[in-house]
Amino acid sequence: MSRVLIIGCGGVASVAIQKCCQVSEVFTEICIASRTRSKCEKLAAELAPRTATKITTAQVDADQVEQVIDLIRSWQPDLVMNLALPYQDLTIMDACLACGVNYMDTANYEPEDTDDPRWREIYEKRCKEAGFSAYFDYSWQWAYRKKFEEAGLTALLGCGFDPGVTQAYCAYAKKHEFDSIDTIDILDCNGGDHGYAFATNFNPEVNLREVSAPGSYWEAGRWIEVPAMSIRREYEFDQVGKKDMYLLHHEEIESLAVNIPEVKRIRFFMTFGQSYLNHMRCLEDVGMLSTSPVEFEGHQIVPVKFLKALLPDPAGLGARTKGKTNIGCIFTGRKDNQEKTYYIYNICDHQECFREVGSQAVSYTTGVPAMCGALMLLSGKWNKPGVYTVEEFDPDPFLEALDKYGLPRRENHSPVLVD
Ligand SMILES: NC(=O)c1ccc[n+]([C@@H]2O[C@H](COP(=O)([O-])OP(=O)(O)OC[C@H]3O[C@@H](n4cnc5c(N)ncnc54)[C@H](OP(=O)(O)O)[C@@H]3O)[C@@H](O)[C@H]2O)c1
Repeated sequence: MSRVLIIGCGGVASVAIQKCCQVSEVFTEICIASRTRSKCEKLAAELAPRTATKITTAQVDADQVEQVIDLIRSWQPDLVMNLALPYQDLTIMDACLACGVNYMDTANYEPEDTDDPRWREIYEKRCKEAGFSAYFDYSWQWAYRKKFEEAGLTALLGCGFDPGVTQAYCAYAKKHEFDSIDTIDILDCNGGDHGYAFATNFNPEVNLREVSAPGSYWEAGRWIEVPAMSIRREYEFDQVGKKDMYLLHHEEIESLAVNIPEVKRIRFFMTFGQSYLNHMRCLEDVGMLSTSPVEFEGHQIVPVKFLKALLPDPAGLGARTKGKTNIGCIFTGRKDNQEKTYYIYNICDHQECFREVGSQAVSYTTGVPAMCGALMLLSGKWNKPGVYTVEEFDPDPFLEALDKYGLPRRENHSPVLVD
């Protein structure tokens, strides 16, 4: 019996909400709150006839801490799931602390305004000290550790697929397969085709910021940064086939390097087609990916926000997307003094996701782990005071929940390695 406040009602949230409604014995009441209330009401009306979960809706601007506090105080949830954007992570964490409620999200904090001089000063210092230049990093949310510990509350960070399930795979490999892990390669393959020359599979602004940034990986205790898309590999993915993949900076590398300190190298690769890359380079070259406002015919516009308005809504790609995703981790290391390799991954079919929840697999593979993470917190399996990433918890009940609710794991004990 629990009451869960879900903030955001986009592609990821709509999957997570539908999955919560499939487990109505745990999620007895949910409140869907977002900036645009009509989207929440539409989804609530669709779901009401087919779930025992009682659904209410609310309007909230989660950039405003006071609004989130008022909503939490009036609705009294047991857990707040932040499925809005990374820009709202800190305001929602502040509100949870003020009201004494557990918190979770699917992506680590980054600011909406990267020109903010106060943020820039800290960011530039971090770039120099840490050695990577992504706009997002864990430092902002790790700074809340003591506050959550003292309040006796849990904050679960980054509980989607990657970050999220990929870290549970690492914790599982460490617990069951290896005495020590030497290398981790995280491989994110989307073999889906939506038929558009260019579209992003989740929020375009967040997605394009991520993939147009320099790549980086962790090796021998330090970050190595390389120009965007400069490291390419080809890999034959189970049930998808051969794909080009490119090394990216990705947030879970940062926490894995801390939490599995013996690992000598951690890399993250994502597949991209040539059409996507050509469009992205062109948009970047003409300044369309910029987050800084420009003056246009008397109006201030942010180029990447304008681009978002032109691109297909990721939440609407489901009906057109055919093919599969294949996301997982390849490990090398030692067990009982023997060298070994291990690959754990999930395959998800875009059209099956669409039939089940009306979404494509990228929203599905994020929304299902968000629901399963909430399940871990509500059932007391993952509760400890403080701020944690997924690999810091027991992976077994989480992977069992994923097996049950739509993202079953697969294993290979002699995978082809990435050179
Ligand atoms: N870990 C992973 O594997 C993974 C993978 C993909 C995505 N993600 C993360 O998942 C999150 C959601 O992505 P998405 O594709 O679902 O994005 P989306 O479709 O753009 O949805 C974002 C939702 O947040 C709402 N929102 C934005 N600003 C808000 C504010 N100030 N107050 C209240 N609500 C606000 C939006 O409301 P409006 O309708 O009014 O715009 C929308 O409902 C992002 O943080 C993304 O980075 C994680």
